Amino acid sequence: MVAEIINGKDLSVEIKEAMKDEVAVLRQQSIVPHLTVILIGDNPASRSYVNGKKRASEEVGISSDIIELPESVSEQELLATIQQLNQNELVHGILVQLPLPNHIDVDHVIEAIDPKKDVDGFHPINIGKMMTGQDTFYPCTPYGILTMLRSKNITIAGKHVVIIGRSNIVGKPVGQLMLQEDATVTYCHSKTKGMKEITRLADIVIVAIGKPNVIDSDYIKDGAVVIDVGINRLENGTLTGDVDFDSVLEKASYVTPVPRGVGPMTITMLLHNTIKASKGLVT
Ligand code: GUN
Repeated sequence: MVAEIINGKDLSVEIKEAMKDEVAVLRQQSIVPHLTVILIGDNPASRSYVNGKKRASEEVGISSDIIELPESVSEQELLATIQQLNQNELVHGILVQLPLPNHIDVDHVIEAIDPKKDVDGFHPINIGKMMTGQDTFYPCTPYGILTMLRSKNITIAGKHVVIIGRSNIVGKPVGQLMLQEDATVTYCHSKTKGMKEITRLADIVIVAIGKPNVIDSDYIKDGAVVIDVGINRLENGTLTGDVDFDSVLEKASYVTPVPRGVGPMTITMLLHNTIKASKGLVT
């Protein structure tokens, strides 16, 4: 079997076209969706992601700004900046780019963001709402993955979904979202024993471990769907996923590439959440 490629870039272009119209209607009603991104320090990867978020916002008519703070900023100063944004009625979405410097407690920062402006969907209130099936902001990468599966009419209900990775940003929430969609969910991680035996049972494998090309066709059942969340930069500068794409392509039914896979969908779901926030739909 040769897998069909789920192109997240093309899908995101399609979704953003519809968003342009939606934002134009909001602007006619004097609502200008606005996203503020806080970037701390000088991590080149973070800077590149943040610039991508700003560019995509502008494409659909969402206004955005980036607040740059030095690596040395205190937790107190950062929390004060977030408080000001919470109170600013013109700001609908607040995103603090992760990772943070070691001296800042990430939980304090996420919990300082008004849940109504938490377009990352990371606040424990929003995570709790997602887990109990309530409407809220879903974390962007998990929601992007769900949207990619839906775009190909891939059935999730009753399927065995195996997640490799258990980060708060991707692994844990994507498992919960799949559970909400009636999948049977298994989490694998660095302490899992006999991982291949588990992943080979999966109808859908979602890989989010941050190590280049480690999941090959040996881990995959014939005809499985393989979603690659990894974005790894090799020494020669090329981007690659966590999945050995060429190996899996021969065995899976669907596979996502890197680049042009999950990455563009993550940004597109951030735009979706920002528009949703501007409409006051999350309370
Ligand atoms: N760093 C890597 N991915 C993300 C994300 O989705 N949101 C934020 N805020 N930081 C990140």
